[in-house]
Amino acid sequence: MSLTSYRILSIFAFCVATAIADTNLDIPYPYNCSTRTTCSSLRIKLPQTNEQFNAKYLNASDSAVDFHLENKKGEQLALTITGIENQRFRIQIEEHDRHRYKLEHSLEKEPNVKKIQNVKVLNDSVTFEDSENNQVVVYLNPLTIEFYHDNVLETIFEGNRIIFQNTEESQAFTFSVRFTNTRQLLGLHEHADYFKLRHTADFSIDPYRLRNTDYGEIEYILDTTRSMYGSIPVLYSFGNVSSGVFLHNAAEQWIDINLIRNSAYFMVDGGTLDLFVLLGPSLPDIVRQYVDLTGKPHLPQLWALGYHQCRWAYNTSDDVMATINNFDIYDFPLDVLWLDIEYTAERKFFTWNLTSFPDPIELLNWVDDQGHRKLVPISDPHIKIDPDYEVYTYLLEHGLFVNNSDGASPFIGECWPGNSSWVDYLNPAAREYYGKRHLYENFPSTPALGGFWNDMNEPTLFDNLYERTFPFDLVHYGGVRHRDVHNIYGMLQTMSTHGGLIERDNGTLRPFILSRAYFAGSQRYANKWSGDNWGEFEDLRFSVPMALTSNLVGLAFYGADIPGFFGTATEELLIRWYELGIWLPFFRAHAANGTPRREPFLFKNETQAILREHMKLRYKHIPVWYTLFYEHTLTGDPMIRPLLYQYPDDPVGYDLYDEFLVGPDILTSSVYESNATSVPVYFPGNNESWVQITGNLSKLPVYQSGQWSNISVDITFTPVFYRTGSLISRKPNVSRSTADIKDDPLELHAVIDSDGIAKGRIYIDDYESFDYVNKKEFVYGEIIYDSNNSTLVLNLLDETSDPSKYPVVIEAIQVYERNGNEVTIKKITSNRDGTPLSTIDLSKKNILL
Ligand code: NOJ
Repeated sequence: MSLTSYRILSIFAFCVATAIADTNLDIPYPYNCSTRTTCSSLRIKLPQTNEQFNAKYLNASDSAVDFHLENKKGEQLALTITGIENQRFRIQIEEHDRHRYKLEHSLEKEPNVKKIQNVKVLNDSVTFEDSENNQVVVYLNPLTIEFYHDNVLETIFEGNRIIFQNTEESQAFTFSVRFTNTRQLLGLHEHADYFKLRHTADFSIDPYRLRNTDYGEIEYILDTTRSMYGSIPVLYSFGNVSSGVFLHNAAEQWIDINLIRNSAYFMVDGGTLDLFVLLGPSLPDIVRQYVDLTGKPHLPQLWALGYHQCRWAYNTSDDVMATINNFDIYDFPLDVLWLDIEYTAERKFFTWNLTSFPDPIELLNWVDDQGHRKLVPISDPHIKIDPDYEVYTYLLEHGLFVNNSDGASPFIGECWPGNSSWVDYLNPAAREYYGKRHLYENFPSTPALGGFWNDMNEPTLFDNLYERTFPFDLVHYGGVRHRDVHNIYGMLQTMSTHGGLIERDNGTLRPFILSRAYFAGSQRYANKWSGDNWGEFEDLRFSVPMALTSNLVGLAFYGADIPGFFGTATEELLIRWYELGIWLPFFRAHAANGTPRREPFLFKNETQAILREHMKLRYKHIPVWYTLFYEHTLTGDPMIRPLLYQYPDDPVGYDLYDEFLVGPDILTSSVYESNATSVPVYFPGNNESWVQITGNLSKLPVYQSGQWSNISVDITFTPVFYRTGSLISRKPNVSRSTADIKDDPLELHAVIDSDGIAKGRIYIDDYESFDYVNKKEFVYGEIIYDSNNSTLVLNLLDETSDPSKYPVVIEAIQVYERNGNEVTIKKITSNRDGTPLSTIDLSKKNILL
């Protein structure tokens, strides 16, 4: 049976199950480019000569240059090019009256402008430059804008593909950008597709579509350019010179990729043409230039990096307690148990079903007693229409729902509770009211309710008229048409939830929010999972490029449901998924309703042993994750990385995404098929080697960079390697939860290089509050082990921090000593005077071993 027919049969079973559960799911039908006017009509439209815009120079200010655009049909537009600090420019085009909707909330703040100088106006062009060694050439007839960095042409804005529709029916517009020096085009998250963008311009496949959509269970199709739950309209050109563009616009978009010209043709359904040009010139540079616009996240609390167990649903308090107890009985670490929609009374969010959860506070206190674990409940943006439901009546009376096209009557549609209306998060009063629902007095709970799960926020509708989401003509606060803001709706829910959680805990605890829908900037409020995937090997495989792309576009805290939400993964796949899942930033197992229970303790002993070992391996690496996350909050650098990010000069890595790096030092390669006995692994880099740390090995094999090797595997492990020269900080023991081990001393794995040195960074704080921001109370430093003189040194990396509260205590050093192609490990637990290491604070004193 083919995968598709299997899925359709399973969908049938699922629909029966959900129908029994009294829901109203229609089978959605597919929409593609040919069914949407913006794409079908504009994709093939090449502006005639009389439709092409010529530019006329108007004037220049300190940081911007203005032009008037006009074509022979008499259509007129205004163009402004602004210099933005840090190798960026901004192109804004629209009608002179500037009536189009201006997107809010996506940018973290208005970016700092920079000085434009040496404006030269010639007959057919205008040139200018900035103080950062960038030059801009604007050709006037027809409009073309070239961006040079260090005299190298990087990005070209192609005015000959500009179309601006400006009628009652359509405010769609188009434009094209072309890159030079391109090896690959990347980005345009989210698609269940490959890491590299594909050629769509020959019409063999649809353009990449960005329109937040829940296609429901039938459409989690892989290997596709169809839109998914989230949209991040940033596009990177990777090459020996890298550059990129970010379209600051939340309307639906289709992007045709031409890999012969290395160009991208954007067809956008509304809003303004507001394009940031990122001139790199390296891939890490453009990632930072993009993330700096839309913001970096704060650190999560430590528990969020532990293991999350979810299921639709844990239906009663007893079920919750029995499940958590079993994690302890069977010795599996666990930080969070999730509550899907059934914890509510009749799917009314911010209520408890008091029959099945009779005493939520008692339950939360009990959960806290079990190793400071957490519960995370779901909360969707649809509000059940019920005159006895306070949240509904308040929002209705205060006009805080999204309205029909009349702008006055609340839109009504169907979702989990039946007829519902949707919170209008564009309205500050709605955001504030909704945020306050999270306060302890409004929703009986305690801090053991660790955060919230914002689901169905594309938003999903069960009516099928508009691809299971809002019609375009709905009206938001301020008369804003839904068409212009569709892709940011879900992000605004998380913004409101985030504000509520900050208020709930008086700004002390860092909020945790998981969101299904998202937009550029969502990373400031929420993390993300890849939605309703299937328990198939191919879903496991595609989860990696999805997570890697997400990491490159600022949304690093990303993971996939283990072992696939729908269907029943085989035990082999389940094991493989855990083996991979421990190396993605967000580590959560989930299961659709109607699927057999599959918590780790339910499997045979051999399987349990493998899962246990891997889950514990995740917990042992918690200091690595936490430090990487801290660095991500400083820079926006991805936590997990494709090889080309870290090794841009190693061409073999360009095409690899089956294997990836966790930070700079850990290389993981997974098994994506059944019955595998070996995995081909490429070892990137120049002079380093890679030491295998998984497998039943008495001596650890070492592999030289620049080579492939077939690594033997069995079901008990997938290949994972440490880079020579790295120093990995681990927790030696694993107990019930991160809270149980957070204050334990570290165990350093010093993988010395050929000079006998190992280096790694460590970050420690209170793991939960904002004191690391407000009071700068943390330790962040580089630990250097030098085997030549047997010293261990900590160099603080932030001299302004106050590390006094956080001793850096080490229980042991495992020194990886190389002997030919193998490594043996020497364990050191005391200094050269015989003093146990665990009694010395490395932040106060170097250690002589
Ligand atoms: C859809 C979500 O993607 C899934 O994870 C969740 O279990 C269901 N909604 C029910 O809430």
